[in-house]
Amino acid sequence: CGIIGVLGNEEAVPRIMAGLKRLEYRGYDSAGVATVHDGRLDRRRAPGKLVNLDAVLETAPLPGAAGIGHTRWATHGAPNETNAHPHATYRAAVVHNGIIENFAELRRELEEKGAVFESETDAEVCPQLITYYLENENLTPAEAFKKAIGRMRGAFAFAAIFSGEEDLMICGRKGSPLAIGRGDGEMFIGSDAYALAPFTNRITYLEEGDWAVLTRDSIDIRDESGAKVTRAEKISSASQGLVDKEGHRHFMAKEIHEQPEVIAHTISRYVDPAEMTVRLPKGAFDFKKLDRLTISACGTAYYAGLVSKYWFEKWARLPIEIDVASELRYRDVPWTKNGGALFISQSGETADTLAALREACANGQQIAAVVNVAESSIAREADVIFPMTAGPEIGVASTKAFTCQLVSLACIAIAAGRERGTLSAEEEKELVGGLLEIPRLVAEALKQSDKIEAIARDIAKATGVFYIGRGVSYPMALEGALKLKEISYIHAEGYAAGELKHGPIALIDENLPIAVIAPMDAHFEKTVSNMQEVMARDGKALLISCKDGIAAAGARAWASIETPKTHPMLAPVVYAVPVQLLAYFTATTKGTDVDQPRNLAKSVTVE
Ligand code: G6P
Repeated sequence: CGIIGVLGNEEAVPRIMAGLKRLEYRGYDSAGVATVHDGRLDRRRAPGKLVNLDAVLETAPLPGAAGIGHTRWATHGAPNETNAHPHATYRAAVVHNGIIENFAELRRELEEKGAVFESETDAEVCPQLITYYLENENLTPAEAFKKAIGRMRGAFAFAAIFSGEEDLMICGRKGSPLAIGRGDGEMFIGSDAYALAPFTNRITYLEEGDWAVLTRDSIDIRDESGAKVTRAEKISSASQGLVDKEGHRHFMAKEIHEQPEVIAHTISRYVDPAEMTVRLPKGAFDFKKLDRLTISACGTAYYAGLVSKYWFEKWARLPIEIDVASELRYRDVPWTKNGGALFISQSGETADTLAALREACANGQQIAAVVNVAESSIAREADVIFPMTAGPEIGVASTKAFTCQLVSLACIAIAAGRERGTLSAEEEKELVGGLLEIPRLVAEALKQSDKIEAIARDIAKATGVFYIGRGVSYPMALEGALKLKEISYIHAEGYAAGELKHGPIALIDENLPIAVIAPMDAHFEKTVSNMQEVMARDGKALLISCKDGIAAAGARAWASIETPKTHPMLAPVVYAVPVQLLAYFTATTKGTDVDQPRNLAKSVTVE
């Protein structure tokens, strides 16, 4: 979703619409605007693309110099007018981006106190909470906003305007980006600097947990604790119509930090948080009839597929065939009669993946694809597309596309389990609960950046690095090694933790650090003993685990990176963050070309 806000000196709606047009790439299932004018809040909303909202505004114009706007990717609740943003009471209008995990609980609490909800969205709890605090606790808008944001758990960004306040806009971020743009006696906010380019290039990015009280002339930024903070103003280069780095040194860093937001978007495509169930697009596989699922992809997308193999097997008891596309297509695969084939690709143009898809298709398999680029060749040739909404990925080393592929695949595997009768409603609920926390946990994992940067200074001196993991963490070891190789040019290998002793342990010495990916799951003890085998041979072990894991096994490790505790099966999505950051900072320490590493291409269209 995309957010825009204007405190201006001319009519706000045409400017909000101009900003929304630039945000349309973030989704266009519905859109809306709200303004405050003569002390009153009013809004217009419409399903579908922005032109529909334009038409509504033509017949029913909306005056006012202060307003907010939103373009939405339908989450739960149909993309109709009622569910479109802004959500409002007569006191506050709010646009929101992200997931509010505990909305059902907050909604129940507010309804018991008499609040009347009109939509099915999680976002509506926001204006309702603010209104409750304004009316019942006599708080100022800023106090009410702060209290409301403190009650909501999840990863999100939002912005609010208030009745009776024509020189006030309050916004905040937890996980989703938000940029403040300063004009000449005017103030703007947007999901990115690109949306604000028509109005100003003086951009201040809010940091994690920040919230800001804005007037036309002032920006008052507070951190999560409420303490006043200063965030530097930057001159944005976004005006050229290009995607901007938004204050980050590299696109890769920007894309790593975008993950809480884009993962939330992708999850929203599949999950109904009110029912705590997963839904798939129409025409998806008939999982009951499927006798085998073949999964294929290249590079990072292949590793996402490898993680999903564990999910499909465990939750759906579905036989899985998986191979890299460049092998699958040349093997003489004994295709089954009722087989399905699933291809994963960020670009949707990878030649090997496309060729494997055609091979599977020629052999009577039903074809599905998880792709990021909706108009790509793979998307066009598949029978069904499972959406992932990572947004444009510019850095050659895939980061946010990977985690979005993972959550899409998790949802598909959960639905497969339900349809095949191998996953109970209770289990589905538990997994959906686990998925909904992921954006927040990913945002938390990002807070380890400084620590990881310090560790990376040592890794940069290594001649090689090993990554090990078991179960769902094994593909993460492979992905960790790939990331490091791609951008830092340090040789790295990913290994199944248990396999290390069957050969590669011969390589271990003090110059070959080993990263141990060990979430607190059923394999934890075993992986830790593999780590100890390495340490007994003077190897340098870097333990990546949660707080309890580090307390249990970190004492003798060379270093450790704390990662938030997650549902054990979903750990790869959160553990992707330390793995990506470690590669990123190792590369920046070495000074390599992070966004365009030598010899690589973002989309490989040769076989
Ligand atoms: C290239 C990139 C990799 C990527 C792979 C698959 O080799 O360098 O980072 O994982 O292609 O790309 P796709 O677009 O199919 O996901």
